[in-house]
Amino acid sequence: MPQTIMIGAKDPNIAYLLQRYAEESGFQTLHASSGKEVLDQARRLQPQLIILDIEHGSQAECQVARQLKTSSTTRHIPIVIYSYLDELPDALRVDVDGWWLKSVMYADFVEIVKRIGLNPAARASSPRGAGNHRTTTARHIREGVPVIGNTQTDKTLLQVNGLKMHFAIKRGFLASRTVGYVKAVDDVSFFIREGETLGLVGESGCGKTTTGRLVLRAYNPTAGDVWFRDRKLGRVNIPTLDKSQLAQLRQNMQLIFQDPYSSLNPRMTLLEIVGEPLYVNKVAQGSALKDRVAELLRVVGLRPEYMSRYPHAFSGGQRQRIGVARALALNPQLIVCDEPVSALDVSVQAQILNLLQELQEKFGLTYLFISHDLSVVEHISNRVAVMYVGKLVEHAPTDELFINPKHPYTEALLSAVPKPDPRVRTEPIVMPGEVADPAHPPSGCYFHPRCRYRVEQCEQEEPTLKQIAPDHFVSCHRAHELQLTGVVGSEDAKEVDIG
Ligand SMILES: Nc1ncnc2c1ncn2[C@@H]1O[C@H](COP(=O)(O)OP(=O)(O)O)[C@@H](O)[C@H]1O
Ligand code: SF4
Ligand SMILES: [Mg+2]
Repeated sequence: MPQTIMIGAKDPNIAYLLQRYAEESGFQTLHASSGKEVLDQARRLQPQLIILDIEHGSQAECQVARQLKTSSTTRHIPIVIYSYLDELPDALRVDVDGWWLKSVMYADFVEIVKRIGLNPAARASSPRGAGNHRTTTARHIREGVPVIGNTQTDKTLLQVNGLKMHFAIKRGFLASRTVGYVKAVDDVSFFIREGETLGLVGESGCGKTTTGRLVLRAYNPTAGDVWFRDRKLGRVNIPTLDKSQLAQLRQNMQLIFQDPYSSLNPRMTLLEIVGEPLYVNKVAQGSALKDRVAELLRVVGLRPEYMSRYPHAFSGGQRQRIGVARALALNPQLIVCDEPVSALDVSVQAQILNLLQELQEKFGLTYLFISHDLSVVEHISNRVAVMYVGKLVEHAPTDELFINPKHPYTEALLSAVPKPDPRVRTEPIVMPGEVADPAHPPSGCYFHPRCRYRVEQCEQEEPTLKQIAPDHFVSCHRAHELQLTGVVGSEDAKEVDIG
């Protein structure tokens, strides 16, 4: 019988990583996303080890660890506190005996399991994408040694934790009184691995653009971390950077806008538009700058001879290529693409999507790809996160999300995706009403006024994001019981008869 490790973590990304390491090392895993679940499951299911994510070291979080260590039914279970705090709260150091892990590196996980003396049924080699070099970030809690480490695998380029943007609503003379907040982004967490595309989808007004802008620090977030592995600055938390660090970082993160008409200055030539970032950042001037612009234009499929023309001479698709060339000028690691094809004709959309994919392969780019349209993200994204009124409601690998959606909002968005095979065409699901106002969201599940599966609990209790399958997270009270309709893969579609 394999031994069981319980992972108590609210953050789905942390839970996913720990779960993956444990499973690939031959352990069984259990996941609990609240303190109550941790305590209940530990009592009932008696795992051999509990890993507890103490995110901010709050009293409630510490209380769970202490209860585990004082209850007669759970005190024998070894406990590992995962925390990226520099120092653990005193309460834990004094009262809890266990281990403290400050990074989610595979090597640290293996080390700590060895020190505790657990023997998995079968030990696998290092999982894909996990750092395999040894670090020494596991410490016995009572040693109380501050540990330096990081919280992600080597391949994670961007890790967003608990991101919030609450815009103040001001009233009164000179807008001096705050009367409320628009919670445009409210506790959003996700990660993007290097060279990968994360699609971020949802109807207009769900907070996608605000999320993208927070990553680029166009706004200072109300709360949350945005960890980025910058090739020059190392691993940095974007909201804490000073001005000069931010200036460096911005060379490395670029934005492609929705509207290729208004985002290009009509009074600048292509040479000026594409060359400006090179000139401003003193990367190139004179003939070197011209050569680089010519190269960039070629890369995006435009003729270098066009360099002295103005944007009005070009079609929508060509203008978007100019925007892409400008974004590529400084050789960035991450590009936030905010609805980059939404203003274009369908035929041109495919060309720009293909271009973005080719460039990704050629230059190892990483994309956060924002769209209101699921069919646009389908082919370009490795994983998709669905956003509704400031929150992520579902998050899964693209195929899994399309074939096996678990949130009613995702199902409704998918029902509008055009299906190539007429035999599997279904009627779009009509969602009554509009996206809720993030200044006055409904009670309970924000989606309940529009949800055809709602039950009484939905109006009262807010669901939380929970893992329901490896790498698949969903925030719905009924996720386990609902059989929702996705978009069947084109091969399988021939076999299926829907209505
Ligand atoms: N600067 C701002 N001040 C106040 N509210 C804002 C601001 N920017 C966006 N919002 C509000 O935040 C919500 C999310 O907007 P946005 O991020 O643009 O969504 P999306 O890109 O998904 O359409 C909307 O209700 C919008 O009105
Ligand atoms: S929690 Fe309830 S209202 Fe919300 S999506 Fe699930 S079933 Fe619908
Ligand atoms: Mg937007």
